[in-house]
Amino acid sequence: MKTHQKILFPENTKKLLEEELLKARIEIASLKKTVSDHEKHLLEAHKKIASLERIAVDKKKLKKKLNLLEHELKEGYKELMCIYNIFNIMEQESNLEQIIQDIVNVIPSSWQYPDITCSRIMLEDREFKTRNFRETPYKQISNISIYGRNKGTVEIYYLEEKPLCYEGPFLKSERNLIKGISQTLGKIIERKRAEEEIKNSHKKLQELLELLQVIREEERKDIAREIHDELGQLLTALKIDIKWLDKRVNEPELGEKINSMTELIDMTIQNVRRIASELRPVILDDFGLSAAILWHAKEIEKRTGIKFKITFIPEDITMDKNKSVIIYRIIQELLTNIVRHASAKKVEIKLKNKNNKLFISVKDNGTGIEENNIYTSKSFGLLGIKERVHYWGGVLHIKGKHNIGTSVTIILPVDE
Ligand SMILES: Nc1ncnc2c1ncn2[C@@H]1O[C@H](COP(=O)(O)OP(=O)(O)OP(=O)(O)O)[C@@H](O)[C@H]1O
Ligand SMILES: [Mg+2]
Repeated sequence: MKTHQKILFPENTKKLLEEELLKARIEIASLKKTVSDHEKHLLEAHKKIASLERIAVDKKKLKKKLNLLEHELKEGYKELMCIYNIFNIMEQESNLEQIIQDIVNVIPSSWQYPDITCSRIMLEDREFKTRNFRETPYKQISNISIYGRNKGTVEIYYLEEKPLCYEGPFLKSERNLIKGISQTLGKIIERKRAEEEIKNSHKKLQELLELLQVIREEERKDIAREIHDELGQLLTALKIDIKWLDKRVNEPELGEKINSMTELIDMTIQNVRRIASELRPVILDDFGLSAAILWHAKEIEKRTGIKFKITFIPEDITMDKNKSVIIYRIIQELLTNIVRHASAKKVEIKLKNKNNKLFISVKDNGTGIEENNIYTSKSFGLLGIKERVHYWGGVLHIKGKHNIGTSVTIILPVDE
């Protein structure tokens, strides 16, 4: 049987051991604290790692979003540039066919792969395409509608296969863009056609106006001749008859009556001549433009006291009858306006025929025409002049200065 033997340490060894134990306990306690501190740090580190991981995920998402936004921005910019280019083309070019060809050429640069993109615009029976045009299976198409009817198409083709996207290899923004282009084209064509129609009807209106003026001149000429010849002759015959009567009548009372009748007939003859001349001055047909203008100015001077200064370079301006009549009528209207509206004392008329151009200038020292009175809806004098001058390929300037006067300048192309 084994018996436990009690070990006996010397008294100081026991003390020593106890001291060592205490030290060990203190050390363990401190170690425990260190471990707990480390555990705390570890926990914090874990937390930090978790939050960093979260930030990293957010960053990834953000980057993805940013990339998407950047892409959308780029596509939007391309779209904008495409529309901007189309408007630029419209501003610089007036010929519709050239506009469409220029548009077809700028379209590919706005698609995702410009180098392998080609396009074609079909409009009614016309075809416009890029130089590299070739039909492939990778196609996008949009209709062109004009006044609500399908009149053509805009087509885009990729010459090579590309990864699938929203619509085949095409992006959603490209669908929007092709739609935008075809709608813009429809509007451009509608506008151009409306402009052309307005231009044509304006041209027709001008031709009609000119024809009316010619007819009016012919009628005036006929009426003037008839009044002058027929009425004039009748009045002259009447005067002869009255003279015949006068010789045979001895009664003083009747004689007086006959005298006053003769005076009346003379006045009527004068009036008939004046009316006939105003309708169509014979002087214009017989002696030409310069003489007719001088005569007309003199008539006004007699009536109103307005003083005229008239210059012709060369002194006798000759041109075909048609143009002479037009110029005479224009000057007649300008002088009528001066009498009616200007309260002028002096008028200066200048006509200069040089280098196949006739310069006409009519200036007065009256009240001065007001800018917003020049072409009003109620008056046709100046508007008629403007239309005629434009019809004959000339230019017209009207300028007024308050209480200084009005100046009208016309330049007309004429044959030598
Ligand atoms: N020389 C002028 N000085 C000042 N105002 C003028 C002169 N000429 C024209 N005007 C102004 O310009 C307006 C337009 O002239 P316009 O000849 O077109 O019409 P109108 O003489 O009034 O009528 P009409 O149709 O019978 O000619 C006139 O009503 C007048 O107010
Ligand atoms: Mg007038």
